[in-house]
Amino acid sequence: MKKAFVAGWPISHSLSPHLHDYWLRRYGIDGSYDAIAVAPDQLNAFLSALPAADLIGGNITIPHKQAALKACARVDADARSIGAVNTLWLENGLLCGSNTDSYGFLANLDQTAPQWRSASLALVVGAGGASRAIVHALLSNGLEVRLANRTISRAEALAAEFGPKAKSNSWDTIDSLLPDCGLVVNTTSLGMKGQAPLAIDLDRAGTDTIVTDIVYNPIETPLLEQARHRGLKTVDGLGMLMHQAVPGFERWFGNRPEVDGRLREHLLAHF
Ligand code: ATR
Repeated sequence: MKKAFVAGWPISHSLSPHLHDYWLRRYGIDGSYDAIAVAPDQLNAFLSALPAADLIGGNITIPHKQAALKACARVDADARSIGAVNTLWLENGLLCGSNTDSYGFLANLDQTAPQWRSASLALVVGAGGASRAIVHALLSNGLEVRLANRTISRAEALAAEFGPKAKSNSWDTIDSLLPDCGLVVNTTSLGMKGQAPLAIDLDRAGTDTIVTDIVYNPIETPLLEQARHRGLKTVDGLGMLMHQAVPGFERWFGNRPEVDGRLREHLLAHF
C-alpha cells in the first residue's frame, strides 16, 4: 500500500485527507493519506524518517512550508521562486519538493473564470506566504501586480523581490486601484469564519473584474458576496485547495485526478 501524508501544526482541521481519500476510493487505489501533527522542532526528524515510516511523500502545510524547503535535496523552480514547498516525494532516497499553490491558483481560475487571462493588472491583497505563490503565478503569466498589505513594509519587500512588474501600494489606495485591475485577489485571512471581513468597497471595480478569495470557509466570503451582488464574476478558494492537490496525488499514486462538482460537494459536506 502506498502511504502519503499531510504534516502541519496544528493539523486537525485539514480538508486534505477528505480530498485524497475521495480520489483514492474513486480510482480504486490501494493507498492512504493521513494527517500527521508535527511540531516545528520535530520537522527535520520527521522528514528524515519518511523511508523508515514507509511514507512515499506528502503535503506540508502551515507552519512548515519554508523549513521543509531547506530540508529538501532538490526543489523545482516554482518552489525556489516562492521560497516554500507544499508537496514532497522521495527520489532514490532523496527528499524532493515542489510548490503547487501557484498551479492550483491558476488551474482554479482557468476552470472557473478562463476570461481572467485577458486581464493585464491584478490587485493582490496581502503579502504573506499565500501571496508569494499567487504573485509568482500571476507574474509568470504576464500580468502586472499591485500589492496592498496592512503592513506596507511586507508588501514593499515582496514587490522588490519580484521585480518591476510587482509594485507595492498602501492599504488606503486599494479603492483607487480598483478601476484598473481586471483581477482582485484576497490572500489574507480576512473574511474567514470568526474574522473580520476584508473591507474593500468594490464600487469602483470595472464590470469585467473577477474577484477571487483564498479563504474557503465560509465558501462565500463577505468579499465574494459583495462582488456577486455587484454582478462581478467570483471564484472561491475551495477550487484552489482542490487543484493544488492534483500534482501531488498524481506523483504519489499514479493517476491524474479530476477536480469536479462531486469532489466539491464531498468536501463541502465536511465543513
Ligand atoms: P499566509 O501564509 O496564510 O499568507 P501569513 O504569512 O501570516 O499567512 O500572512 C497573512 C496575511 O494576512 C498578511 O498579509 C497579513 O497582513 P500583515 O502582513 O499586515 O500581518 C494579513 N492579515 C492578517 N490579519 C489581518 C488583518 N486583521 N487586517 C489586515 N491584514 C491582515
